[in-house]
Amino acid sequence: MTARITGIGTYVPDKIVTNDELAKIMETSDEWIVSRTGIHERRISITEGTRELALKAARNALAAAKTEPEELDIIILGTSSPDYHYPSDACYVQGELGAGNAAAFDISAACSGFIFAMNIVRGFFEAGIYKTGLIIGAETLSKVTNWSDRSTSVLFGDGAGAAVLKAGETGIIDMIMGSDGTMGDVLKCPSRTMGNFLTGEKPEAGFMTMDGQAVFKFAVKKIPETIELLLERNHLAKEDITYYVLHQANERIIEAAARRIREPMEKFPMTIGEYGNTSTASIPLLLSHMERQGMLKPGQKIIMSGFGAGMTWGAALVQWV
Ligand code: ACO
Repeated sequence: MTARITGIGTYVPDKIVTNDELAKIMETSDEWIVSRTGIHERRISITEGTRELALKAARNALAAAKTEPEELDIIILGTSSPDYHYPSDACYVQGELGAGNAAAFDISAACSGFIFAMNIVRGFFEAGIYKTGLIIGAETLSKVTNWSDRSTSVLFGDGAGAAVLKAGETGIIDMIMGSDGTMGDVLKCPSRTMGNFLTGEKPEAGFMTMDGQAVFKFAVKKIPETIELLLERNHLAKEDITYYVLHQANERIIEAAARRIREPMEKFPMTIGEYGNTSTASIPLLLSHMERQGMLKPGQKIIMSGFGAGMTWGAALVQWV
């Protein structure tokens, strides 16, 4: 028994912020951002939090999968920008959906969150514990972005994507998950600085910081490594793979990964130009785009691959059904 995707749903805030608009509030330019990242614009939430974006994406996924909320056994929401420490955003979604039979919790695996959530649900299905799950990647990174740091703030966008998973004989063929906590400082966002009556200081909200070049090197090494491992242990050739659905962090990272595994760019669809880096939402946003374009067909084999803070990485070899 494995897991298959039976419906994808997305939601992004209405507000589009172009590179030219960012150039009005910081020293940057459309030319710099496009040439270094491939990003033209991103969505920024004005009033909606991560949980509201997640809820709307979840409703769209349930509608696409023709699944009622009561059928769900489990809801896992991956996010690196939760609205609350607790209750989890997943519990908020569960309550609003009326998915009273589902256990719900958030996971923190940054941009690998969607892949990690998928693998957890697959494990429950394989063990015969659950049959129907909802996984969500949702972010409002704009609230943890330091808008005076031009090297990070131009990269990210807000959005959410969700997928309904059902137990079945075909779907996910194999998955990889990994972490390297020794690289934690490369990309981080402390939720609060320490502060209590003993320190005499007020806790302050933390902002994201990143060593961009270290992330770049890590991603360009890890993506090909995980793809090649999946191919090797499933006795598949690159020709068997129709698409590589990579986390949308940076166009140059995707191009470099494609070069390393010697595969043409046509096999690497992208939405980075339109949404920027939406962290754990980027893979379902891309899958939804591919579905709307009629690119996904039953029988195709695709590899999804995510990487992010932690550092974490994950990949899934899937037969589309
Ligand atoms: N506009 C104009 N100039 C800028 C900007 C900006 N937005 N940001 C940085 N610069 C300047 C720097 O100040 C620096 O100037 P200096 O030479 O005068 O000091 C110069 O551009 C080069 O800066 P670098 O940081 O070396 O630029 P780099 O070529 O490495 O590009 C980038 C930066 C795009 C972040 C790159 O390192 C990268 O793509 N890294 C991957 C990180 C990534 O994609 N992270 C996504 C989040 S992580 C995740 O999703 C897992």
